[in-house]
Amino acid sequence: LAWFSGQSTKKTFGERLKRRLKNFLIVTVIGFGTYYGTLGTKPRVVVLGTGWGAVPLLKHIDTEKYEVVCVSPRNYFLMTPLLPPVSVGTVETRTVIESIRSLIGPRVKYVEAHCVSVDPKAKVISCNTDGEQPVSRGDDVKTILIPSRRAGGSSSRIIKDSARVRPSFDMKYDILVVSVGSENNTFNTPGLEEHAHFLKEVLDARHIRSAISDAFESAMTPTQTPAERKRLLHFVVVGGGPTGVEFAAELAILVREDLQIYFPRLVANDVKIALIEALDHILSMMDKQISDYTERHFHRENIDVLMNTFVKEVKQHEVVVQLKGSDELKSIPCSVVVWATGIKPRALTNKLREIIGFDIQSNRMGLTYRSIFTLLFEEADAERRGTLDLQQFRALVERKITEFPQLEIISKSIEKAFEEADKDKSGTLTLAELHSALGKADTKIRALPATAQVASQEGSFVADLLNQLKDTQSNNYEQQNLKSFRYKHMGSLAYVGGDEAVVDFTGSKPILDMFNLKPLSGRSAAYLWKSFYLTEMFTGRTKTLLAFDWVRTQFFGRDISRY
Ligand code: FAD
Ligand code: NAI
Repeated sequence: LAWFSGQSTKKTFGERLKRRLKNFLIVTVIGFGTYYGTLGTKPRVVVLGTGWGAVPLLKHIDTEKYEVVCVSPRNYFLMTPLLPPVSVGTVETRTVIESIRSLIGPRVKYVEAHCVSVDPKAKVISCNTDGEQPVSRGDDVKTILIPSRRAGGSSSRIIKDSARVRPSFDMKYDILVVSVGSENNTFNTPGLEEHAHFLKEVLDARHIRSAISDAFESAMTPTQTPAERKRLLHFVVVGGGPTGVEFAAELAILVREDLQIYFPRLVANDVKIALIEALDHILSMMDKQISDYTERHFHRENIDVLMNTFVKEVKQHEVVVQLKGSDELKSIPCSVVVWATGIKPRALTNKLREIIGFDIQSNRMGLTYRSIFTLLFEEADAERRGTLDLQQFRALVERKITEFPQLEIISKSIEKAFEEADKDKSGTLTLAELHSALGKADTKIRALPATAQVASQEGSFVADLLNQLKDTQSNNYEQQNLKSFRYKHMGSLAYVGGDEAVVDFTGSKPILDMFNLKPLSGRSAAYLWKSFYLTEMFTGRTKTLLAFDWVRTQFFGRDISRY
């Protein structure tokens, strides 16, 4: 192009050469500029969330390769396992949070906002910036700051509205990572938003702490009737999963170690803690020995465990329950109600699943499992014979485990399914029984537990995956020969109060299985629990604060003032 544009019959050879060289230079500069300009534009990875999934990803992702932007309404990471101790003052609020900016540093850009919608075709997210601090409020996706319930009603609005002018915005992305966590599952139970507390965000814990203090101070009012005093000091925890169990345990300890000193009569005569569970045992996801141990331990700690009891409604001064097998409804007068009946996906996640099609995401894993099953059937020649025997299945798993590491997770479920289906103990299953057993196992294994452990491993995995990605523009990850996610379970821990905890190693990775570790309970488990969370704290600052909080509580007790 430079050569031709330099052609002019009327110019001398020198002029023509000069012009050609000039044009050549211009074109070269533009060409190289464009080339390097394109090369210099790093693909943008937008990460939604600052929780257990997002933070390990943000810490490990290669920022030389990607421009990384994190969008989340919470400008801190929250150490959720320590929320129960925060809700009674064993551990202070600032100990369990770490500024996202200090965790990720300037290499990642952070914007405080909610993502409200995603357009995967245009690769654009839309964000809303109400700037409010998250507090759980029923099924509401929008996180808002509300006056502390039952804690005097005064609003604890932290930021004055006038101080903020934050327009909503859209942002383009090349790769989007959604790690927005979950919200409380209320099962549409009436009265929760108005009369119950959740325990999911740090402000929830603060509100509960104030509400407990408020209940005791209200009970001390001289004109209070005995019945009203009893009601005020009846604390109800709904849901016998780990959240409900850990909170009930912390509350019992607060009462025994601190409130007992200041309110001895109330504690002796009126305080009651009830843990209500719809199933026939608590901590149902853990080993049965652990559930039994915790129930016995709670009995010693004066926590009433009401099993086979379903909470139908929460009213201002009572919870309405229904016993299993009965149509009758019963009312239990109480004051503070903590609702911990599990979680469900956020509306944004559901919307995304609809847009991109559910199959693309989680069923990719389902399909992999299905193909493993098919392969196993073929190998075992089960289709032809019409049965599969347990020994044969085990041998196949052993042979194929290096090729299909997922088998490690599924084989346990399948063995259980074998046990359930194989009634005559002959060790074989008919094809029909096998199909139904695999169907059951398939749903079980597809859903990994909604824990911090899973989320953080997924976060690190996605960071590694992105760091290895050769073609960042292509959506066809399978062609790029990338590994699939493999969850390594390290065991489950739960604090049950009174210097005791429980640890379940079922399903944990081979090294733990090798030592054949049995479920642990009692003091040794509590030491393990404490050391584990001390090491899990992300920074030296929070590790130190946590150690100080434990020492402070040990020597000086908990601060029971309401603020
Ligand atoms: P989260 O950690 O909840 O993070 C979600 C992030 O997304 C947050 O930063 C949030 O602000 C942000 N976000 C929300 N909406 C949007 C949006 N629209 N746009 C952008 N960002 C958004 N697990 C264990 O393994 N062990 C335990 O001991 C344990 N204890 C627990 C105790 C309690 C009281 C609770 C509530 C949970 C506990 N868990 C525990 C479970 C664990 O906290 C969760 O499994 C884990 O937090 C899930 O991680 P995540 O990253 O998916 O979500
Ligand atoms: P969960 O789903 O584990 O337990 C909820 C319990 O509430 C269930 O046992 C259910 O039967 C019961 N329930 C539901 N509706 C009820 C009703 N109306 N009345 C009475 N009981 C009712 O939920 P949780 O404890 O909130 O935990 C959420 C997630 O966080 C889980 O995935 C859990 O594994 C994880 N987590 C893990 C912890 C740990 O490992 N230590 C601690 C806390 C949470």
